[in-house]
Amino acid sequence: MIYLNGEFMPVSEAKVSVMDRGFLFGDGVYEVIPIYSKRPFRLAEHLRRLQASLDGIRLANPHSDAEWSTLIGRIVDAADYPDQQVYLQITRGTDEKRNHAFPKVVRPTVFMMSELLLPPPPEQRERGISAVSAADNRWLRCDLKSTSLLANCLLRQQAVEAGCAETVLFRDGFLSEGAASNIFVVKDGILLAPNKSHLMLAGITYDVILELALAHGLPHEVRDVREEEVRAASELWMTSSTKEVLPIVSLDDRPVGDGKPGQVFGQMYGWYQKFKQSVMHRRG
Ligand code: PDD
Repeated sequence: MIYLNGEFMPVSEAKVSVMDRGFLFGDGVYEVIPIYSKRPFRLAEHLRRLQASLDGIRLANPHSDAEWSTLIGRIVDAADYPDQQVYLQITRGTDEKRNHAFPKVVRPTVFMMSELLLPPPPEQRERGISAVSAADNRWLRCDLKSTSLLANCLLRQQAVEAGCAETVLFRDGFLSEGAASNIFVVKDGILLAPNKSHLMLAGITYDVILELALAHGLPHEVRDVREEEVRAASELWMTSSTKEVLPIVSLDDRPVGDGKPGQVFGQMYGWYQKFKQSVMHRRG
């Protein structure tokens, strides 16, 4: 079951026009929301970021938060599995002609689906993952969760072709994020996270990690992180809603720290799991 423009239907029956601006221009925004035991994790935060992305591309939100919550609940209930990832996207709809400027009357296309959410395989957590680096050649509104992801796809493919899991991006000598994740650094016992700006997506998981660092008294700094600091890090992590937090143990074929998942990662992973459990429990 998927949701498309007011209706629930099997995915095989869902059709979108070739004149849709999402198809023609990548003119849309999206969210990926993790669902644990059929309950959305950090829904309010995801909906807030969705609103910011919509504002950023000047597209009216087709639904109130309460309506989104109901729609998400219905799509989640329709799937068998308890842990899911809900994907939702809103495009600027169709026009009669292909025209860069906005249509005079905008009827957004609203699409939502839910897929099984599998945690990363345990060996990725136990042995760590490898990454490559690349120059961040994306546009200057990386804070918007836009469906225009061509640059991200090309960058992620570089990792895949090098047998790696992620591409770490640097812009003008500073860390921005991963091709589809945020990146954290541990150096001299301090957790470093880049400042939120137009150069990276403000990850929902990024916020959880920083909240946990604060709650557990882990020294941390949110500031511009230089490429040299990343290359000299004792630990490197990637975070996202679908991967939670994973240790990067090799960057460009060189070991990060001692080449094994670090001690601070181990702590953070434990805190994250506990936090997830407690939130789900409380809301249940
Ligand atoms: N991507 N930065 C980028 C470029 C991303 O694509 C993502 C997540 C993140 C992490 O954000 P969050 O913690 O809110 O998931 C950072 C999603 C999962 C995706 O595109 O599938």
